[in-house]
Amino acid sequence: MNQLFPFPPEASLESHGVDMLYFAMLGVSFVIIVIVFGLIVIFAWHYRAGSPAVRKRLPAFYSHEVEIGWTLATLFAFLGIFGWAAAERQVHFAPPENALSIRVVAKQWMWKFEHPSGAREIDELHLPVGTPIRLNMTSQDVIHSFYVPAFREKQDVLPDRVVTLWFTPTELGRYPIRCAEYCGTNHSLMGGEVDVITPAAYARWSQRNSDRGLPASGAQRFAALGCAGCHEARSNIAPRLDGLFGSRVALEGNRTVVADDAYLERSILDPRADIVKGYLPVMPTYRGVASPDDVSALIAYIKSLRAGEKP
Ligand code: CUA
Repeated sequence: MNQLFPFPPEASLESHGVDMLYFAMLGVSFVIIVIVFGLIVIFAWHYRAGSPAVRKRLPAFYSHEVEIGWTLATLFAFLGIFGWAAAERQVHFAPPENALSIRVVAKQWMWKFEHPSGAREIDELHLPVGTPIRLNMTSQDVIHSFYVPAFREKQDVLPDRVVTLWFTPTELGRYPIRCAEYCGTNHSLMGGEVDVITPAAYARWSQRNSDRGLPASGAQRFAALGCAGCHEARSNIAPRLDGLFGSRVALEGNRTVVADDAYLERSILDPRADIVKGYLPVMPTYRGVASPDDVSALIAYIKSLRAGEKP
């Protein structure tokens, strides 16, 4: 079957639902094609030149009830498919809190990944099986699209913005990563492989490749970019950053947010998106000032600050 009709394996928790939707739509399309082409053939034969077929006007029943009936049926069929697809994707807006956060930076023409341990890799992504994975993705230049056919996941990756995608790999193995948005000369070569391994193997891999130097280079960027001026312990212009990561932050407008990777990145690139309660929106954006590598390092530095520590 698979040789005859090549189809990528279902390697994530989400892939089966996407396949069901896909085959249902294929089935509906097939039924419609059979009806349309069947009628073409029947009418072509029935009303051929010289046939004795009746060629009067249609009775009102066909031009009213039947017309309205099939239009409404089509409308509801489409709304039904829309509702089904929306329900399928809707869960994707709320990643579980225990998800493993991995930072993704796309650039012409490669995928860079950074794990919580600081381990970094290019065009290869190690993931532990059975664990919810959350990708915080941004682009260093143009629009790319992160696509793993075996996971049935595809998400555009935009410059100056962090988009998240989450899913749970369920099958061990290696699966291709593709870029699904034309992004320049070598777009077709922009890809890589996901390597889904056991959680124990992932823990070993991630430890072996961990980068303890990243927070330190983040501390240097923190000083060089002038962040310390407002965020130092004695200042009250800006919120303290020690012990911030993972905590719940009260925002203006009676909102709260968990200070995760995406929040930290958003606060650097788009500081007015979430104003911490009691502070004024005075922080300038660091979009275009801090490179994606700077942001990686800054986030690693902020995550490393325990409560009560500097700055
Ligand atoms: Cu990156 Cu196409």
